[in-house]
Parts: sequence; C-alpha cells; structure tokens
Amino acid sequence: MILRFGILTSSDRSSRGERPDLSGPALAELVTAQGWKVVCTAIVPDVLDVLRETLSTWTDGGELDIILTTGGTGFSARDVTPEATSLVIDRQAPGLAEAMRQESRKSTPHAMLSRATAGMRGRVLIINLPGSPKAAVENFQVVLPVLAHAVELMKADPDAEKHHQPPLATFL
Ligand code: MTE
Repeated sequence: MILRFGILTSSDRSSRGERPDLSGPALAELVTAQGWKVVCTAIVPDVLDVLRETLSTWTDGGELDIILTTGGTGFSARDVTPEATSLVIDRQAPGLAEAMRQESRKSTPHAMLSRATAGMRGRVLIINLPGSPKAAVENFQVVLPVLAHAVELMKADPDAEKHHQPPLATFL
C-alpha cells in the first residue's frame, strides 16, 4: 500500500522566511524513500488556530493517511502543536509518542522535553515530531516500521494481519 502523507512544519521563523525549513524536506525524503507519497506540505507559524485549521482541513480532505507535524512540541510559550493536535483528534495513539520519547532518551535526556502527541481524526493519523531536522528524523524513524500496519488497521483492510510480527517463539 502506498501511504499518503501531509507534512506540516510549525515554525514562526520559517513561516516568515527567516530560517529555511530543513525538517519538512528531511521527513519528505524519508517518506519517499519508502515508496510512499508526500501529497502536501506547508509551513505555518506557531499559532494554535492556524495549526488546528490546517490539520482539520487536511484530515477532512480525504487525500491523506498520515500527517506528520514538525516543531512546536517543546516547553516554550509558543509551542502549541500538541494542543492543536489534541483539539482535532478523536482517538489518541499514545504508544507512538511513548516509543519516540523512550528511544530518543537513549541519545539525549532532552527527549523528555518533547510534549509530542499522536492520534487519529477519522482515518487519518496525526503524529507530532520535534522541530530540529535531526530530532524529527530520529523520532520518525522510531515509528516508521509500524505505519503501514497502522494505516491498514485504520482502513479496516482485510490484509491487516500481513504486517504482524511472527510470534516471539519463532525467534527462539
Ligand atoms: N529527540 C531526539 N531523538 N533527538 C533530539 O535531539 N531534541 C529534544 C526533543 N526530542 C531531540 C529529541 C529537544 S531539545 C526538545 S526541546 C524537544 O524534542 C521538543 O522540540 P521542539 O520544541 O522543536 O518540538
């Protein structure tokens, strides 16, 4: 299945053209390397209503399976991406953010400063990633292996079981 992605960069400075957005393109490169498709990208300021509006318009458009956000997950007062995400999702997917923080803590204790969340709006999965290109890529790589199965499940695809790992006993 070819997964369809939207990539939304939340950054005041990049939205004003003061700093190039390196994270969005880095994520897009990883997505396309999987044979998946980047359907849309945007750079928006760290403004709750703009983020919420963009996320709900993109999810309700019917053209995406997954939205990756990058930026705005930290502790500064302008970081509101998790709040915007929480306002638009109808089901949470806490395991994705838990896994990203857990893995990232192996390389930096600052992983604890990401407030990233994840969840579904209808049949679209939204995943928050941190803002720096390095952190965004590292975090995305943690969840990447489960995304095809996640989308199959969201779509109630009859082939959903194909991506299950074999039972542990077969590794022993
Ligand atoms: N995760 C990984 N894997 N690598 C990193 O360098 N940086 C952290 C964290 N997660 C980091 C990481 C830092 S410094 C912050 S402040 C938070 O993500 C939130 O980043 P954001 O405010 O850019 O969204």
